[in-house]
Amino acid sequence: MAGYVVVGSQWGDEGKGKVVDLLGRHVNMVVRFQGGNNAGHTVVVNGKKTILHLLPSGILNHDALCVIGPGVVVNLFVLLQEIDTLEAQGSPCDHVRLSDRAHLIMPWHLRIDELMEKRAGKNKLGTTKNGIGPTYADKYNRIGLRVCDLKDWDVFSEKVRNVVSLKNEEIVKIYGGEPFDPEEVLAQFAAIRPRILPMICDAVDKIHKALDGGQIVLFEGAQANMLDINYGTYPYVTSSSPTSAGVCEGAGVAPQKLDRIIGVVKAYSTRVGEGPFVTEQLNDIGDKMREIGGEYGATTGRPRRCGWLDLPVVRQAVRINGLTDLAVTKVDVLSGFETLPVCIGYEINGKVYDTIPASIHDLEIAKPVYKEFPGWSEDISKIRSFEELPVNCQNYLNFISEYCGCRMCLVSVGPDREENIILKELIA
Ligand code: GDP
Ligand code: IMO
Ligand code: MG
Repeated sequence: MAGYVVVGSQWGDEGKGKVVDLLGRHVNMVVRFQGGNNAGHTVVVNGKKTILHLLPSGILNHDALCVIGPGVVVNLFVLLQEIDTLEAQGSPCDHVRLSDRAHLIMPWHLRIDELMEKRAGKNKLGTTKNGIGPTYADKYNRIGLRVCDLKDWDVFSEKVRNVVSLKNEEIVKIYGGEPFDPEEVLAQFAAIRPRILPMICDAVDKIHKALDGGQIVLFEGAQANMLDINYGTYPYVTSSSPTSAGVCEGAGVAPQKLDRIIGVVKAYSTRVGEGPFVTEQLNDIGDKMREIGGEYGATTGRPRRCGWLDLPVVRQAVRINGLTDLAVTKVDVLSGFETLPVCIGYEINGKVYDTIPASIHDLEIAKPVYKEFPGWSEDISKIRSFEELPVNCQNYLNFISEYCGCRMCLVSVGPDREENIILKELIA
């Protein structure tokens, strides 16, 4: 039995795709367990970049079964597009499986996401407009459509016709939007159904058979702790649980099956979309990080907001996920900054806290308390051992580990699969 988990420890885009791809070469199965195509995971192999939204980042290893798990919300049209693009580039996708329990993102979810954001005006969340929130809302309202419904066309058609009438009322009466014709929606699904049916499986059974058979199963998180529906900067969050607990819920796996939980930590902070960001640098420093780090959204292309590393955030991820390891990425991006302030607490109304306040109002007025580290100027992208890193870089990294009470297994010094310093073998 070997369950591995990779999750984000900040606001997403930490480099989970890279770490999953790295591990993916040695595993038998890679499973997405939450979120949907709001994710944008980048894998770079020999300079060739692939961005994945819905397919697990282990997809480039043809020997690992790629499972879209029960807790994911699936836009089937995006799924097929992603498969077609990869296959056209010479990466076969016949090892993709789709959970029968996963919920479907329907065309009205996309429209409602967009209309809600428009109506919210200056209070918008800055969602990816992929229909994620409205799909999860319908799931919990118990009016969602699931992948298994597609197996019986009559069942699917009846459900679509029923739900459309309700959704059209919402779209037209609340938001003044354009309603859907259920027959048009059904025709779109009828056209793709023959390609979807062979991918459908009982994912929970597959995952358990693999674990019981001694195989290595890797659970790939999307988004991150600070975007978690329970522990993030609510309401500026996504609508799922991108945590190790989310693996249990979204893949049907018990906690004791998770042997190793790796949190990916970017060496500084970024955030896409709205919401509080205590260490944000709305200045030359933030611009420099964005340019050197290529900080533009892999899903929406939006410039990412950039700032200094926030360690109470990372420690919260260690606690909530039960992280066993930290994989620190994009350390190369920090070369050339004279001083590197690291946030170790928040001053709110004259009092200092080292935990994350629940109220976003508190976070909005919080002033970061920094510990400053001297920077380094060397290019570190060719370095492959910790001892060869500039001492200031070693000190910076060791402090992250110390503050968070979690060992480091990997230091990533470039986007490519090979640009790493391995401190503890990833598959042990
Ligand atoms: P994910 O959503 O967590 O998978 O991360 P993204 O793929 O959205 O964003 C991470 C970006 O950083 C991608 O463009 C990666 O290719 C890139 N990246 C990952 N690790 C490193 C690294 O160590 N150094 C540099 N310079 N880029 C990296
Ligand atoms: P990966 O997996 C960064 C953000 C959106 C928005 C909020 C809610 O690449 O790390 P949603 O569309 O989920 O309802 O949007 O969450 N967001 C992400 N930010 N990385 C992601 O995924 C994200 N997925 C969603 O920008 O602020
Ligand atoms: Mg991303």
